[in-house]
Amino acid sequence: ADFGTPAVCSDTQVTLTIDGREVSVPAGTSVMRAAKECGGAIPSLCATDSVKAFGSCRLCLVEIDGRRGTPASCTTPAEQGMVVHTQTPRLAKLRKGVMELYISDHPLDCLTCSANNDCELQDTAAEVGLRDVRYGYDGETHLGAATDSSNPYFDFDPAKCIVCSRCVRACDEVQGTFALSVDGRGFASAVSAGQAGDTFLSSECVSCGACVQACPTASLQEKAVKEIGLPERAVITTCAYCGVGCT
Ligand code: FES
Repeated sequence: ADFGTPAVCSDTQVTLTIDGREVSVPAGTSVMRAAKECGGAIPSLCATDSVKAFGSCRLCLVEIDGRRGTPASCTTPAEQGMVVHTQTPRLAKLRKGVMELYISDHPLDCLTCSANNDCELQDTAAEVGLRDVRYGYDGETHLGAATDSSNPYFDFDPAKCIVCSRCVRACDEVQGTFALSVDGRGFASAVSAGQAGDTFLSSECVSCGACVQACPTASLQEKAVKEIGLPERAVITTCAYCGVGCT
């Protein structure tokens, strides 16, 4: 199971209440992980078990008694006596609004996309109950940004990137290559490999696949999946070269 953020080791346990359920976790554990430990489901796009929480997608918002605002559960550490609510009408409205903005900047080609039915963006839209999007996708954001097919094993399609930075963090934290970064701001922000003008092939990328593994959409996808479809079964292997775990 994916608990959203990496496990924490601590000799101290803290006990908190999440949606009426009491749970004890090592001090320093995120509220998101604590919620999942006791069976709660908090939508998320930028958090994973393998990279440090980043707090960028704003889907995992929660309400905490005695605190103002709606903090991101992935970057909020669990505290002794905390009372957390993960499912309220206010949170449902906020999450739907955030998701609507993501979809408004994403191609609506799910039915013909190679990641159809294996896409976290698609799953999360369904999870938050998004049915209609008020803001039409105009394709302007990454107009002219062609798919980078230079790597022999995978392609990078900037139009499908939601800039969650999972690939960048996986490259840094899992592989230690530091080949990727996010350039620009706002709608113009985009993942890039190396310096301006570099492609994945000409960058420092070592083709380990950590970024592809981390991508929640079809932005970074193996060529084989695009050409022949998703494998019927996956076998995870690890080797001494890196800790990614190839599938
Ligand atoms: Fe917490 Fe993205 S999962 S902000």
